Amino acid sequence: MDGVNVVLDGKKKETDVAKDILGLTNVSSINDYDLSKLIGKPRLNIERKISFDDRSLSELSIGLIRGLDTYESIYSPLDSPTRSSAADDSFEPHPIVADAWEALRRSLVYFRGQPVGTIAAYDHASEEVLNYDQVFVRDFVPSALAFLMNGEPDIVKNFLLKTLQLQGWEKKIDRFKLGEGAMPASFKVLHHPVRKTDTIVADFGESAIGRVAPVDSGFWWIILLRAYTKSTGDLSLAETAECQKGMRLILTLCLSEGFDTFPTLLCADGCSMIDRRMGIYGYPIEIQALFFMALRCALVMMKQDEEGQEFIERIEKRLHALSYHMRSYFWIDFQQLNDIYRYKTEEYSHTAVNKFNVIPDSIPEWVFDFMPTRGGYFVGNVSPARMDFRWFALGNCVAILSSLASHEQACAIMDLIEGRWEELVGEMPMKICYPAIENHEWRIVTGCDPKNTRWSYHNGGSWPVLLWMVTAASIKTGRPQIARRAIDIAESRLGKDGWPEYYDGKLGRYIGKQARKNQTWSIAGYLVAKMMLEDPSNLGMISLEQDKQMKHVFKRCSSWTC
Ligand code: GLC
Repeated sequence: MDGVNVVLDGKKKETDVAKDILGLTNVSSINDYDLSKLIGKPRLNIERKISFDDRSLSELSIGLIRGLDTYESIYSPLDSPTRSSAADDSFEPHPIVADAWEALRRSLVYFRGQPVGTIAAYDHASEEVLNYDQVFVRDFVPSALAFLMNGEPDIVKNFLLKTLQLQGWEKKIDRFKLGEGAMPASFKVLHHPVRKTDTIVADFGESAIGRVAPVDSGFWWIILLRAYTKSTGDLSLAETAECQKGMRLILTLCLSEGFDTFPTLLCADGCSMIDRRMGIYGYPIEIQALFFMALRCALVMMKQDEEGQEFIERIEKRLHALSYHMRSYFWIDFQQLNDIYRYKTEEYSHTAVNKFNVIPDSIPEWVFDFMPTRGGYFVGNVSPARMDFRWFALGNCVAILSSLASHEQACAIMDLIEGRWEELVGEMPMKICYPAIENHEWRIVTGCDPKNTRWSYHNGGSWPVLLWMVTAASIKTGRPQIARRAIDIAESRLGKDGWPEYYDGKLGRYIGKQARKNQTWSIAGYLVAKMMLEDPSNLGMISLEQDKQMKHVFKRCSSWTC
């Protein structure tokens, strides 16, 4: 109980904090949050009616007594900068850091004098602006983290409130009304030069190429609200009626009952960072991991009033089912691949081993070579008779950060990244997915998309923005040396190359064919990676600890430990 006493004293020893953050403490210590105890029971057993402020405090102590990390972890302002011994070795400010900050500030977008976001790319040389002059919700996340880490939370608050207002708009595509909770993919501020007024136009998919639905936007919004709360210790924003309603509306969209037989979220193609047809329709890992993380973030921010309580219960049930499903059916390693390879088909009833009737002949050749003896990952998609074995970086990193991945799985993912370094990182961290699809498959799957040719853009291109995610994942798993190696590679080119949006080629050696320069999330992603490695306590705003109950649902533990 040492750790608990230290926290109850109001402060944790710096060394303990660094150890926690680097994952060096025993995972079954106070950081475990036992969901099983919560399901079917009121979260609190407090007789008097308490205000939310009171609740935060009482729940903090109750949580700690019960061994939970809820409020301590979610709401405490981040501890003062602590340097981990692992990161201590060679941190030197690189000359491009100052340039990156300057470029990030140049990308700021103002509404009536207040900064409300960052433009996707500040690239005047590019012939076609398309929508790169807009503030994208997903693109703003690394910018927001950079500002939070730098002690500038106001812009993040402005962004959260502005996008919340946009959520309140009536959204229509042709004659079809979109769900109330939908968050925009992006928005743009129009400055009227004569009248000197600012107005906003937002895109919920009705202007986007292919009319794709930004399913990830709402999840990122919730995740960012928690990051803001965690980094500032300011509960008042998340507690407002507006934010509570915004969360409830997003959750209504994804927790509604329907015909589903799985707890995963069914999506159309192009619903996330990959916003073009790329064969990710169904149950894409990126959305499932973000869904899981957003549910966990909402769980701790949702007020326990009448409306909130109902959502809390639904969230808990969904988390329980979702983690079981993902850890059991999306996970693949050498052992699991071998099992699938030997699967029988046409099995009926509950006793079926091959639950989704995956036909072994459909396993692509490349995966047999790619799969290391040590390591594993969450596959891209699972649905009836379909396993998309492709590796997707964002989904796997978010699975680590949200603790959707068990401790063993998180380590296995990092083992895979190390073991398949050339394929996944190569000369620019890191590949959005692996491998690329080509020839006939490319024709069928992408609809002959000329922007997504093999090893380019979303089809096996290398995206510098993913650097912050792999950095966060490696710090969380206690392996910051992986982050250091990736940052060194990125640092040697990014500034020189003008902060491209993506790189092409099997090794990610060439600046992308149609890549924008001065792509904001490439810039911000680099800064966030640097700041996290320098001060690992920054990780707390974007990471959630392991949940004890979820450990029990992990069925297939690999034979090795990490
Ligand atoms: C591209 C990317 C998308 C990003 C947008 C703005 O459409 O695929 O993920 O949000 O550009 O940078």
